[in-house]
Amino acid sequence: MSESNAQATTRPDQRPEWHALAKHRDELAGTHLRDLFDRDPERAGRYTLQVGDLHLDWSKHLVTDETLRLLRELAAATGVFELRDAMFRGDRINITENRAVLHTALRAPQSATVEVDGENVVPGVHAVLYKMTQFADRVRSGEWTGHTGKRIRNVVNIGIGGSDLGPAMAYEVLRSYTDRDLTVRFVSNVDGADLHEAVRDLDPAETLFVIASKTFTTIETITNATSARQWLLARLGAGEDAVAKHFVALSTNAEKVAEFGIDTQNMFEFWDWVGGRYSYDSAIGLSLMLAIGPDRFREMLAGFHLVDEHFRTAPPEHNAPLLMGLLGIWYGNFHDAQSHAVLPYSHYLSRFTAYLQQLDMESNGKSVDRDGNPVAWQTGPVVWGTPGTNGQHAYYQLIHQGTKLIPADFIGFARPIAELGPFAGQHDLLMANFFAQTQALAFGKTPEEVRAEGVSEELVPHKTFRGNHPTTTILASELTPSVLGQLIALYEHKVFVQGAVWNIDSFDQWGVELGKVLAKRVEPALTEGADVAGLDASTSALVSKYRTLRGR
Ligand code: F6P
Repeated sequence: MSESNAQATTRPDQRPEWHALAKHRDELAGTHLRDLFDRDPERAGRYTLQVGDLHLDWSKHLVTDETLRLLRELAAATGVFELRDAMFRGDRINITENRAVLHTALRAPQSATVEVDGENVVPGVHAVLYKMTQFADRVRSGEWTGHTGKRIRNVVNIGIGGSDLGPAMAYEVLRSYTDRDLTVRFVSNVDGADLHEAVRDLDPAETLFVIASKTFTTIETITNATSARQWLLARLGAGEDAVAKHFVALSTNAEKVAEFGIDTQNMFEFWDWVGGRYSYDSAIGLSLMLAIGPDRFREMLAGFHLVDEHFRTAPPEHNAPLLMGLLGIWYGNFHDAQSHAVLPYSHYLSRFTAYLQQLDMESNGKSVDRDGNPVAWQTGPVVWGTPGTNGQHAYYQLIHQGTKLIPADFIGFARPIAELGPFAGQHDLLMANFFAQTQALAFGKTPEEVRAEGVSEELVPHKTFRGNHPTTTILASELTPSVLGQLIALYEHKVFVQGAVWNIDSFDQWGVELGKVLAKRVEPALTEGADVAGLDASTSALVSKYRTLRGR
């Protein structure tokens, strides 16, 4: 095979399946969702899937059976299934870091075998889970005390990115399952305000710091952890020996943990085959386990595993992450959609979309393919969204009547959580909005319908809703730890599918490095006025202005 042919085979946009989709898109142009439903009375029933507790409805998408078939053919042609099997098998599919990608092993049952370099990693996973369980039980029961013998009542998780977003999000999601007598806070920002607000009203004698960092070199985390240690020792009036009772580490780097001064006995380990943004099922979930307890944590892992197995074994026609990934490709690559909204109708999911931003955008925000060639096709979308109904009174106007195509996922629950008590009655109103929005987005309101309401002719265009805005509805009966696991795994594998079709490495994140290096270089210019080589004219002028404003 000639070199140019070899390259052509790895370019999705050069494949016949891609061209077939482009042609099909042109043929479908002008088709409205109203037409698709009129043509197929079974559509609402046919375009649904049940995965575990999740009911998925994709009938309100601008697709036909033919679209779905062509998308599946693209997936097959681009090797999605082979790469999926390679991931589950433990092959080193993170090629730029030469690492296996095995977050699925973190939720595999004890009886499973997953090998990396000939070694089964599952026993190690369960050994750490066991150690976490024992520790969580000791803290939650009051057996583990602080340096002065007081019971731990506060947990402060210090980490950033994947060492923060997962547990912080899940803590919010599962608040009603948490021990309400335990205060759990998450500090990530290197802005001292974050740490200040987290600890200002805490008694250090009752506070446990969980330092979460895969590398244990991340500047934000090490800075916050160092400040936290100073705060604790100063407030307790204690020596270094107090650290052992108030600091634990979650990391892959025992050497750096010891260097920081945390006894490696108090370290909960994970491994380089766990990507940061895929890590909250690992030791990184310790703060969450402290909050919800080991049993609930394991229920969550079981939810993840359920969807892993679905993704691994379900036929393409009924494979939910595959479908979600392909729908994203349909809009991003064939309709030029630039973003994807995730709109949960649950207050508890307030940080869910922020979590998905790292998962999706750090994974698929790439512009070279796996061979290092620039890509000529759109890759990961901008992911955004906040819980309904707040968004309805903010940015939904743009989705309904703006000029952009914004596919959206709507996530809702049939039952409010039990704890809501007298406020549970509001749930039907919340969900009425949930259903109404996807209806309005899909079907809109025609000029004829507007006129029929007696609207004056000059206002008809303003009050018309074009509709045809695609949405996926994900409905579950209740927000439980298992359902959360199912949801996250669904999105993890959706991101995987897209990365595979685009032929990019979804598991590295070189794009965050340059800013880190430059920040280190710029800092002495701010503090000491040092001359920084290579500072451009604009940044240099801004640094001078900053120093003047700081009175330096
Ligand atoms: O943002 C870059 C990143 O490397 C993420 O991928 C990671 O989740 C985060 O930094 C934190 O890294 P660490 O856990 O090593 O402190």
